Amino acid sequence: MKISHIGIAVRDLSAAEELFSRLLGETRVHREEVPDQKVRIASFQLGDARIELTEPTAADSPVSKFMEKRGEGIHHVAFEVDDVSAELERVVSEGFEVIDRAPRPGSHDMLIAFLHPRSTNGVLVELCQNRPETEGK
Ligand code: CO
Repeated sequence: MKISHIGIAVRDLSAAEELFSRLLGETRVHREEVPDQKVRIASFQLGDARIELTEPTAADSPVSKFMEKRGEGIHHVAFEVDDVSAELERVVSEGFEVIDRAPRPGSHDMLIAFLHPRSTNGVLVELCQNRPETEGK
């Protein structure tokens, strides 16, 4: 596995984007809406990994619920794997609790699945897999 991205929950995406752009000295930003998660993201590529600023687009977004409890901040760590379905099976067999039994669509046209933070020291873990270009948008 390698780190794909770190998701950061923010209330105001454009303000956070401006701030992180200054912090990182990086103006190239990828913006995207992920309807399945009810979020909008702005991401910065840093080497092999990304910082994904994530703003909820609805009150029932998982990120809204997260911020109600814990405020802004690091929301999840995403690990890139070759085969997210196979990896889900493996972690379940290892005794980890998963939120997603099957992969779902994520940002950057990836297939993603979340593990429950209960079983990972309070850290929301995302597994993600790049799809072949031919399947992309
Ligand atoms: Co993510």
